[in-house]
Amino acid sequence: MDDKNISQAVIARLPRYYRYLGDLKDNGIERISSQDLSKLMKVTASQIRQDFNNFGGFGQQGYGYNVEYLYDEIAKILGLNEKHNLVIIGAGNLGQALANYMNFERRGFIVKGIFDNNQAICGKVVRGISVQHVDGLEKFIRKNDVDIAVLTIPKEGAVKTAEVLAKCGVKAIWNFAHVDLNVPADIVVENVHLSDSLMKLSYGIVNGSVE
Ligand code: NAI
Repeated sequence: MDDKNISQAVIARLPRYYRYLGDLKDNGIERISSQDLSKLMKVTASQIRQDFNNFGGFGQQGYGYNVEYLYDEIAKILGLNEKHNLVIIGAGNLGQALANYMNFERRGFIVKGIFDNNQAICGKVVRGISVQHVDGLEKFIRKNDVDIAVLTIPKEGAVKTAEVLAKCGVKAIWNFAHVDLNVPADIVVENVHLSDSLMKLSYGIVNGSVE
């Protein structure tokens, strides 16, 4: 399956499909038609068919989609069939909240280490993991096969920290710092700004609807 030329818009919709299919699977539903999935997810059946056609279809005329198969295939496309070790850098409010969110592990994202540059926080245990000083970050990443770094530090330190992360071989950065990072193109950066979502909500209040 060649998913290299899939549009970002389709990729962005896959996690939502994955969540809905996960719920169907948990509820013992074995197959679903594109019409029923469409009603459930409030997207058109043709959108669903078009999206899945990018990956070879998955469906069968008159049968619909096999929920478990589709769920597993989307997991593969999203790389969720592999485990990803991650570190959290910045053990403040946000870093600790993310560390405490168990559901990431269900998806295969394993929190291996938590780091901070404040000695007063180092040694504090968050969900069984002792916060370490950032001085040990490079060594830890190399030793623990860490793919992903989560940046939950203020923007002032983020660019420099990202350069260190790039040097020691992380493949992706989940960036919550409010600054653009300067890393080589082969490192995937996903910037998250919760306030963007809130502003979209505000737009929806003013203008009636967001979608
Ligand atoms: P916080 O002040 O509770 O925690 C920040 C932690 O980072 C502190 O423990 C501090 O010692 C540590 N730190 C600072 N510089 C560091 C460095 N160079 N290396 C390692 N550790 C370092 O702040 P909070 O609330 O956890 O927010 C963290 C950052 O994330 C803030 O800059 C905030 O603006 C941003 N943020 C972003 C959001 C988003 O949606 N993108 C949402 C909430 C916060």
